[in-house]
Amino acid sequence: MTLHKSLLDWYDKEHRSLPWRASPGKVPNPYHVILSEIMLQQTTVVTVISYFKKFIEKWPSLADFATASLDDIYHAWQGLGYYSRARNLHKCIQEIQGEYGGIIPSDPSILIRLPGIGPYTAAAIAAIGYEYPIVPVDGNIIRVFSRLLCLKTPLPQLQQEVRTVVKSYVPLKRSGDFAQALMDLGATICKPQKPNCEKCPLTSYCKVAFSEEAGALPLKKPKSLKPTFYGVVFWYETPTGEVWLRRRPEKGLLANLMEFPGLEWRLDPYKTEEIILHPSKSDTFVILPKIVKHTFTHFHLQLTVVKAVGSDRIGEICVLPENLTDYALPTLMKKVATLTWANKS
Ligand code: ADE
Repeated sequence: MTLHKSLLDWYDKEHRSLPWRASPGKVPNPYHVILSEIMLQQTTVVTVISYFKKFIEKWPSLADFATASLDDIYHAWQGLGYYSRARNLHKCIQEIQGEYGGIIPSDPSILIRLPGIGPYTAAAIAAIGYEYPIVPVDGNIIRVFSRLLCLKTPLPQLQQEVRTVVKSYVPLKRSGDFAQALMDLGATICKPQKPNCEKCPLTSYCKVAFSEEAGALPLKKPKSLKPTFYGVVFWYETPTGEVWLRRRPEKGLLANLMEFPGLEWRLDPYKTEEIILHPSKSDTFVILPKIVKHTFTHFHLQLTVVKAVGSDRIGEICVLPENLTDYALPTLMKKVATLTWANKS
């Protein structure tokens, strides 16, 4: 027996039956593969199933999808989140239709040039859709290999190490099933906390099978020694829809750049009771649930963003949000603007 045979025999019996998959040993429709892989990028398998079925019912072929309107796609995408994936998928499929005659490329180095496709997705599409000899490496597969080979390099460096070691595991045939078998093994048996070694087909190849160590791998990167500061920032609009800005001091961090007014950065997180005292006059006031996180050289910063409208003069100038690009905003403040303006309701 070899590791490949043990894994594929297990997959033949135990694979998850998923609507984008062909039966073991068969090659699926590459359009189904690309669609599912993009949907699966930041979403769980369970959630993706119904969306995938809806999409192929609405747009049965790649050519149908290429001619669909972006609005219809966004509408069908509702609930999957990360809309840039939908936009990129549309662009990607149009590019395949226009530049590759509707045939999805099989070479990962070509796939990776298409919108929305990174190294993992390119490898997954090539392996699953075309039996291209490659092993895609995602978090699940990193976990499986870190245990199999007892790799003690912590994340994130481990990722590169696994990319290198999997090259010697690339199968000569059934590379799509091999990839999906690893995915299934990671999802159902070699799970993050409690690996179920009793059920694993690879224990005879695994350096940590049945040991305490298995659940501890992969090692995480040592905890950062940087302190975390907390701040509050106000996206405070005038009744006419302009937003207040002020200039940062001439000296120090982000000197002279413009910023949205806010409360001082400190080591103590702000409590809601403190936040709601500012600004003094506001007609509407919302504390956004999403925190803006940023890391500077010597510390992490987490900003709570308040979106309010009112007539307080809380900054130096007020600017229409669409004109913010005319000002020197640091990345941190651009993140605040993206959160508030890009997600305006
Ligand atoms: N996650 C990403 N791609 C997947 C696939 N093809 N099957 C199951 N889980 C996945």
